[in-house]
Amino acid sequence: MQWWRDAVFYQVYVPSFTDSDGDGIGDLQGIRGRLGYLELLGVDALWLSPIYASPMVDNGYDITDHRAVDPVWGDLDAVDELIADAHAHGIRVTVDLVPNHTSDQHSWFRAALASPTGSPERDRYHFRPGQGVGGAEPPNSWRSVFGGSAWTREPARDEGPGEWFLHLFSPAQPDLNWTNLEVWADLDKTLRFWLDRGVDGFRIDAAHGMCKQLDGTPPSSDDDPRFDQDAVHDVHRMIRATLDHYPERVAIGAVGVRNATRFARYVRQDELHLAVDTQLAASRFDAEEVRAAIEDCLNAVGSVGAAASWLLSDHDVSRPASRYGAGPVGTARARAMALVQLALPGAAYLYNGDELGLPDADLPDEARRDAVWHHGEDSRDGCRVPQPWEADLPAYGFTTGEPWLPIPDDYAVLGAAEQLEDTGSTLSLYRRALELRREHPGFQAPPSPGPALEWFGAPPGCLAFRRTGTTLVCALNTSPAPVPLPPGDPLLVSGPLDDGMLPPDTAVWLA
Ligand code: NOJ
Repeated sequence: MQWWRDAVFYQVYVPSFTDSDGDGIGDLQGIRGRLGYLELLGVDALWLSPIYASPMVDNGYDITDHRAVDPVWGDLDAVDELIADAHAHGIRVTVDLVPNHTSDQHSWFRAALASPTGSPERDRYHFRPGQGVGGAEPPNSWRSVFGGSAWTREPARDEGPGEWFLHLFSPAQPDLNWTNLEVWADLDKTLRFWLDRGVDGFRIDAAHGMCKQLDGTPPSSDDDPRFDQDAVHDVHRMIRATLDHYPERVAIGAVGVRNATRFARYVRQDELHLAVDTQLAASRFDAEEVRAAIEDCLNAVGSVGAAASWLLSDHDVSRPASRYGAGPVGTARARAMALVQLALPGAAYLYNGDELGLPDADLPDEARRDAVWHHGEDSRDGCRVPQPWEADLPAYGFTTGEPWLPIPDDYAVLGAAEQLEDTGSTLSLYRRALELRREHPGFQAPPSPGPALEWFGAPPGCLAFRRTGTTLVCALNTSPAPVPLPPGDPLLVSGPLDDGMLPPDTAVWLA
């Protein structure tokens, strides 16, 4: 059963979901205590941000042991309990996997620093001599995604000038060398370790990374020697081959590739099951842009027979309720885009807190924690602030201690408990949408070979589509004036209709 083809995944950003032990940081037992909520919301699967041993320079994306749980989250027993309980609630559990890099505190990297130039220990990473007098300049001009050079010089050594190591993210995240077979063997071991524990799959971080065009490797990507090199597809074939030994497990790639043809290569039959589209999240609240993003993704994945998968936000980008505009307009637009996302054929990813309509938090500089911030780029902390559960509890029920990021006062009216009681809340909209998506006959489509979606004519600034083979129509109005509804009975509206018309900043489902 290809359950993942139309599953709704819920991203739990573990530090910010629920803290069970009062240290102010979310954890595995905290998630376990919210499974009832997640079942009520109606999601099919979780995606947990990294739960592995980590010095937390990048909130767990800097890993010292891919097969151990960091004590801040819990332990292996807590993982087993969470998986068992989630399954009992009918929810599958996928976990983040970070194959591009390790922490600089990983035993491999420490061994590399302690070993001579040219040693097997160094070969697991990318060490190179510097350029210029005394090797004082980086080996090349590559930039880190987090800003600054992608190379850092190792601490001074007795035996010579010392080398530079490559890190596409922070200097605390040295990139692994994917031409080294030990690196491959270790990932295979990690996959089996978690699959044997019962995880239902992996979200693969920077799935277009890993292989680089260094040292005269022939170019294979259009314009960026750091990413999307042909060799990375061999890594995905290896991952898939391992997963295929386990029934019903899924590999999902965070594939930051804009070229549709190259994006599609990641979801060929023997590679990833799903690649997360990022174009929808990058689109403005503009019908033309939204439609173009949808078409690009559907054409790409359709060309290789894969399912699409849609994401509006995650822990790296501004939340929809802030991104599309401030205040009530942003909220209205975020609600409208949620209906668009959830009407599209394919899988969907919800980011925890978006179901509550949370805006980004405006944090004072001294409260910010993001590694990116320390490298001079915009901080991602605003979208990572802990989830409010109940207005009357300290820290809104997130923790009994001090939350790791301060929770703004305006989150008080957005608590889950209060929203569950309010039929007009964003949470109630999400619950109803997920229920209809699961149960309404308008969503059930017999398999058909043609395009997954049919576009209807729509007024300027609007779009309307139907899932092929179904009666479900979704219409979105991004124009400044109300427009007539397409034919059909309204099933769900993201905001009130205006005299039977679809107002600006609103979407509707009809059947
Ligand atoms: C992408 C992740 O989503 C992001 O949060 C992280 O900082 C980088 N990869 C590095 O692992």
